[in-house]
Amino acid sequence: MIADGATYMTLSTVPPVNSRLLFRERVTDYHCHILPGIDDGAETLESALSMARLFHEAGYREIYCTSHQIRGKFEASAADILDARSRLQAELVRANIPIRLLVGCEHYLDEFLLDTMKQPLLLEGTNLFLVEIPAFMAIELVKEILFQVTCRGYVPLIAHPERCSLLELADQGEKKSKFWDSWTTRNASVDNEVSLLRYLQDIGCQFQANLGSFHGFYGKFIQNKAKSFEKASIYTHIGTDAHNPDHLKQILKPPI
Ligand SMILES: [Fe+2]
Repeated sequence: MIADGATYMTLSTVPPVNSRLLFRERVTDYHCHILPGIDDGAETLESALSMARLFHEAGYREIYCTSHQIRGKFEASAADILDARSRLQAELVRANIPIRLLVGCEHYLDEFLLDTMKQPLLLEGTNLFLVEIPAFMAIELVKEILFQVTCRGYVPLIAHPERCSLLELADQGEKKSKFWDSWTTRNASVDNEVSLLRYLQDIGCQFQANLGSFHGFYGKFIQNKAKSFEKASIYTHIGTDAHNPDHLKQILKPPI
């Protein structure tokens, strides 16, 4: 859904979801870099078609095309993304691949993020604003910016929180704290990380897991963290975050 000065669509409320159900069904990918030539995802139309075939074989029916949106690096406009989606969708129809493409993008949380609020590209048909939190960002800034997003009526959907070192569960924080306590005085940042996750939950953020995290795609530490987040029912959505066919094959291959 695109909100701009000319066309404001009615914002739908995202229905409550059960993350375990999403894990089982795997029919919608909420985070994918399938659009060719927009960011560091699929480089060619052929790559994008290969990815779509893999999704279809795995039982998926809908893919959110969430290209990166990073100031100075990836700055495709909403019109570019809509156009790329339409062209790829037409190719899927031609190739007889029954996958529905939906638009969105993966926003990068930085000091420029609130500028994009003037014309946000939400996950189509929802009021979800997919956003990635860089690990080096100041925690107070993360809180302030995401609070401002909610004040505009959007729901931040935090991309792969298990990959963000600023976000920790309370018990993980305690374990980490014990480790640090043995070396030095109390690590104050642990409290901040635990409190950030709680704060984001309190203001209504939702959380998207990367499927590959559960398979150890990003290493053992992230795998364990993803499992703990799932156990604590943090997640509301799941995505592949796939960037090319080889990447996607590895993500889809192991059973959950
Ligand atoms: Fe991504």
